[in-house]
Amino acid sequence: MTTSRLPYQDPRLPTAERVRDLLERMTLSEKLGQLNQVRADQAGVALVRTQAKAGLVGSRILASTAFAGNEAQLVAELEENNTVQRIACDESRLGIPILNGRDVIHGYRTIFPIPLGQAASFDPELVEQAAKHAAAEASAHGVHWTFAPMLDIARDPRWGRIIEGCGEDAYLTSALGAAMVRGFQGVDPSEPGRVLACAKHFLAYGTSEGGRDYASGECSDHTLRNVYLEPFRAAVRAGCATVMSAFHNINGEPVSGSHYLLTRVLKDELGFQGFVISDWAAVTEMIVHGAAENDADAAVKALTAGVDMEMVTGTFVAHLEAALANGQIDAARLDDAVARVLRAKFQKGLFERPYLDTTRATSSLLSPAARATARTLATRSLVLLKNQDSLLPLAKEGRRIAVLGPLASAQGELMGSWVFDGVASDVTSIVDALGESAPKLKFSTAPLMLDAQVQAAQRADVAIVVLGESPLRTGEANNIADLSLPRDQEVLLEALYRTGTPIVAVIAAGRPLPIGSVLERAQAVLYAWHPGTEGGRAIADVLFGDACPSGKLPVTLARSLGQVPIFYNHKNGGRAVNGYYPFFAPTHHGIRPYLDELATPLFPFGFGLSYTRFGYSDISIDRSEIARDERVKVSALLTNHGERSGAEVVQCYVRDYVGSVTRPVRELKGFRRVELGPAESARVEFELGPDELAFWNNSGKREVEPGRFGVWIGGSAYAELGTEFQVR
Ligand code: GLC
Repeated sequence: MTTSRLPYQDPRLPTAERVRDLLERMTLSEKLGQLNQVRADQAGVALVRTQAKAGLVGSRILASTAFAGNEAQLVAELEENNTVQRIACDESRLGIPILNGRDVIHGYRTIFPIPLGQAASFDPELVEQAAKHAAAEASAHGVHWTFAPMLDIARDPRWGRIIEGCGEDAYLTSALGAAMVRGFQGVDPSEPGRVLACAKHFLAYGTSEGGRDYASGECSDHTLRNVYLEPFRAAVRAGCATVMSAFHNINGEPVSGSHYLLTRVLKDELGFQGFVISDWAAVTEMIVHGAAENDADAAVKALTAGVDMEMVTGTFVAHLEAALANGQIDAARLDDAVARVLRAKFQKGLFERPYLDTTRATSSLLSPAARATARTLATRSLVLLKNQDSLLPLAKEGRRIAVLGPLASAQGELMGSWVFDGVASDVTSIVDALGESAPKLKFSTAPLMLDAQVQAAQRADVAIVVLGESPLRTGEANNIADLSLPRDQEVLLEALYRTGTPIVAVIAAGRPLPIGSVLERAQAVLYAWHPGTEGGRAIADVLFGDACPSGKLPVTLARSLGQVPIFYNHKNGGRAVNGYYPFFAPTHHGIRPYLDELATPLFPFGFGLSYTRFGYSDISIDRSEIARDERVKVSALLTNHGERSGAEVVQCYVRDYVGSVTRPVRELKGFRRVELGPAESARVEFELGPDELAFWNNSGKREVEPGRFGVWIGGSAYAELGTEFQVR
């Protein structure tokens, strides 16, 4: 006998109709339950089951601590997901399924490079593929929703969370963030193998003072909109299902209590239709910020500001019933929050497919396709910074190679921070990958004792030295005040340098480090970030030339901490003394940016070498003048002047010389990865129109203004091949 379906249970009906019908049937307690995310293991699973039966669990977070990125987390117990879900669906009054969320930041079991490393690939298609693999593995283990992509622009490498985003540029972060949303959600997130995405941390979390995570930030509305908001605008346009409100206090308001940011900007101006979840305890932390008296006050302020679901602190279910009764919150706002959560659940197809097929779980992990994507993405994330006398690529026979340094045999460390479900033994270390790739070669390694390392280098023709950071000093709350390499590594490098054996330095790090000392001592330098499960093999592929390096810096490499913040798309100021660009007048009447440091970075945004040599020539533009709503096409000829094939990330930069507000000296407004054989050429074209040329001015609108524009095409922010056009 089929039970008659209520409208909200009928998938043939439009989602809006199902939401409306269900909302009308819900009690106040059930409505608040949908806004409540609990820890899956909160005070033991028994409590969660009881709450689920009462319809008080809208979501479970499959994490057990606030510092999810750096502490072992509860494994998502497969059967428990179904047990709790069955209670919610079959035993609660309305049978609303629970949404399971988890941090799947750069892979589930197959770990891809850290997002900062993925950004160095400048390859949205590949980044999207990686997110799709991550979603397939995570969804097979009961995850419906990932708290990714992290879209925070980071201009301060002291900040541990620079690892999690796509670097310093809004345009690159927008392109890659939208790609991750597409990879996680697909066109229809209810399809098996997809998860809902969550753009985080709204907004301007990277402005935290001194690079100290959670610290307050100050940012003009002008910069907030033209830099930090752009990636979220792109994620909303890509259909991102949810957004996470950040911990910090920006311009005097805790984000989770900011009606201006969460409602006026995100929901009203950007038209975000999904739901906002607060970050871990961000609601009650408003009390610590000094923006709320107590839990009840915090709950009222968060919901009113625009938080729709509360992560783990339970103040909504505890206090909003009374708050509604005494008129402290608006019933329409409450219903709007519930409707947004229900809409996401219908979008995810949870009502039709609430349960997990546990038989699919294990077979979904570490597929050859996932590993292949991880290897290719890791390979493309590697940035060649120096290659003196073309020391690289190394021949696969005939030389003795020592593989030294603290990370030469590392496995787990190569995965980086924000790894819950990756397994260290899945990773092939760099030394093992080199051996796999060149079986005829004699490799030597040595214990980390200095004398042993020195002796191994003395007995080798080349020393590959793997330096960098443990993931334990990257990620959430892991901020570093002294950015130089750990002291013992500087000592080791100096000792190895003195042997006279040529050094190939591989830097595995979660942030851009001022590696001047490495540059002085190594003949070749490859920046590898934390490259993931297949990172060792990717490094071997590049060092032996099976792959040609094409990675470009998604973040400026400073000479020293003293230069921070230092970024390529800076404003000119009134005396042009920023000095980032060697070809701009670095001084004004002799005034220099620093008396004790050079003004230029070690390497600029967008920089990266190849094993071949690319040249840019013959820039052309199809029109010298356009109207504000028209587009202009700019192209240049890219030529491979070398003897081997290679790929170049061609970049297009724009400058709006005069605006109603000041504009950066350069902004990335296009990029494309182009592969060319020896002596081949290709014309690479970029279209620039309103979306690329518009900016938020002080009229509160994002618009194109008339005037003179410069445009350059090249292989880094230092591109010199340029032309101009007018907007009338
Ligand atoms: C953490 C992070 C956030 C993460 C959440 C759940 O503290 O700030 O990025 O998604 O809590 O683990």
